[in-house]
Amino acid sequence: MSKLAHAQWSSKMTFVLAAAGSAVGLGNIWRFSYMVGDSGGAAFVLVYLICVAVVGMPILVAEWLIGRRAQKNPVNAMAELAGQSGQPRAWALLGASGILAAFLILSFYSVIGGWSLSYTLNSVIGTFTGQDADGVSAIFGNLLASPGVLLLWHTAFMALVVWIVARGVTKGLEGAVRTMMPALVVLMLILVGYGMTTGHFGEALAFMFRPDWSALTGGVVLAAMGQAFFTLSLGMGIMMAYGSYLGEEVNLLGTARTVIILDTVIALLAGLAIFPIVFANGLSAGEGPGLIFVTLPLAFGNMTGGTLLGLMFFLLLTFAALTSAISLLEPVVEFVEERTPLSRVMATLAGGAAVWALGIAALMSFNVWDVPVLFGLNVFDLLDTFTSKILLPLTGLGAIVFVAWCLERKSVAAELNLAGGAEKLWHLVARYVAPIGVILVFVSSL
Ligand code: PHE
Ligand code: NA
Repeated sequence: MSKLAHAQWSSKMTFVLAAAGSAVGLGNIWRFSYMVGDSGGAAFVLVYLICVAVVGMPILVAEWLIGRRAQKNPVNAMAELAGQSGQPRAWALLGASGILAAFLILSFYSVIGGWSLSYTLNSVIGTFTGQDADGVSAIFGNLLASPGVLLLWHTAFMALVVWIVARGVTKGLEGAVRTMMPALVVLMLILVGYGMTTGHFGEALAFMFRPDWSALTGGVVLAAMGQAFFTLSLGMGIMMAYGSYLGEEVNLLGTARTVIILDTVIALLAGLAIFPIVFANGLSAGEGPGLIFVTLPLAFGNMTGGTLLGLMFFLLLTFAALTSAISLLEPVVEFVEERTPLSRVMATLAGGAAVWALGIAALMSFNVWDVPVLFGLNVFDLLDTFTSKILLPLTGLGAIVFVAWCLERKSVAAELNLAGGAEKLWHLVARYVAPIGVILVFVSSL
């Protein structure tokens, strides 16, 4: 980031597209739906929505604000702003833990990106045509059972990410993001429409929105909060780094609202598309990480034009995953670039190779190495749990505490264009509600 530290986004639209490109990804479709299914439905969804609004929104704004003020990468930004406001430089640890989180997340994200790539190819060759529930489950089961095949797709996905980041063509992707997002929304709507024809749409609606509060455990609440951080790309310094390219004229609160609404709508549509298929075919909502890969092919395999729609869907999903993965690799590469004499290309290769290697341990968790390594979790679950439930919330907590407690209240209000009651509300939420919310969720899950 150093070289570009003072370059700014050419326009507000460019920034929104980059932030949305990072936010919208596998988290909305793959992770959201499987977490909802695993956690028993509506209670999770409602807590998730509350977390997005009350915790996610202020932290997103806080990360952008920190980045924009310092105009530096997250580690240096935190060190500098802390120094200016008389705080210990240890705040820079926030930037460092964010980089660690990005590294760990990308390793398993790439494995799932590989599944999406593999399903794109399977759609082209018509593998899903006319399959029933047993058929698609067997196809997915075969993929999981073959470490070599998983490795191939994980490698292909990582190679794409490394290639794009090394060439520095990230900015060139923004035009593609602009067309991809609406196309993805349209495809999700078509899938929701298909869900309505299954006769099980009402059941899915109730599953997602009529809460059975007895299902609400501390663990479910923590999972919902983790999902809110994951889906908005928070707690990794990514949004902070993006903020460092932002011009003064950009309205942070308004932009945050746009990105959050888009991200949330895509996740909810994914749920409304997937659960009717689950209920119509007697599948298990708690299927786990394979949920979208055993439900959506059923829809594509059995609807008119399904082959083409399936191909488009998995292509768009792969693309959304790529734009998120790029935003995950960037901070890792910048870190390597700044701390070593390596060139940008070599730093990208080195960072990418390290992520790739850890990803191998993650993909073996689905077959030859499906054994608990720590706290009863296999490597895949451990990476996912440690990042989304611990690292991201803690780093995000640090960002909001820093903005609300260490920066001058007046200057933050001015920067956010807030006055009067609106400013009081922001201050209350940023200073107390969001941080205490995060802490309470931690405590309640113990
Ligand atoms: N937010 C992305 C998603 O929902 C994942 C991601 C997490 C991307 C963290 C960047 C940083 O898929
Ligand atoms: Na997301």
